[in-house]
Amino acid sequence: MITSIVQTKKEKDFLHQSLKMIVQYVHATLERQETCRIGLAGGSTPKKLYHLLGKTHLPWEKITLIVIDERNVSPTDPRSNLGMIRSELISNLRLPEEQVIASDTVRGYEEAAVAMEYRLQQLKKEREDGEPLFDLLILGAGVDGHIASIFPQTPTPSDQSRLVMLTSTTEHDIFQRMSVTMSALLSSRQAILLLKGSEKRHLVQLLADGTSKTPAGRLTRSVATTVFYHAD
Ligand code: 6PG
Repeated sequence: MITSIVQTKKEKDFLHQSLKMIVQYVHATLERQETCRIGLAGGSTPKKLYHLLGKTHLPWEKITLIVIDERNVSPTDPRSNLGMIRSELISNLRLPEEQVIASDTVRGYEEAAVAMEYRLQQLKKEREDGEPLFDLLILGAGVDGHIASIFPQTPTPSDQSRLVMLTSTTEHDIFQRMSVTMSALLSSRQAILLLKGSEKRHLVQLLADGTSKTPAGRLTRSVATTVFYHAD
């Protein structure tokens, strides 16, 4: 459910308020458990936030970052989610490999999805049954309500235990994608949804009404979510 919608007039406030929430949430999580897992979406909206997060003092040795969706491009391509998250966030932190879980398309798109599935199933096993896979998700959404690379027309995998799937879009940059599944995303304690631009105002309204049938609507009906919205 949406716990609050924070609308900001200045981009600076959009960034600082969302950063503040992440910092507080990570500390609160680490007061009750040893580790904190953060799922990170790609896209343009979280880019500056990731940059600031990469300069923020946190007990990073206890944090695992999971890049929740990827486009079928090389990690050195400017449109790669892993590439963007590496340069804005991970490179500043110098996190060891095992604390970053992502689909490295260097090994091939389908192979990367298989490897990602394996890593996430391992993460799942590390926690007790019933414990969520993620502690926090940082997401953007498209005007059509897609989140990660789950689009309104993306079918649900028949195998409910799957955590990663190949997806596709004909409307957005890079047709071939991979994404954690909706059931994996729903296994999160908390989400932050970052929406920017006047064209996303109607989505904020639909999500607030609880009527959206889109992936963003499904997520925000089930996972405690704070929406940050900046119109410019
Ligand atoms: C991706 C994403 C996707 C993104 C939205 C919003 O790789 O494209 O993970 O879900 O968050 O498309 O993108 P913008 O922030 O660029 O509007």
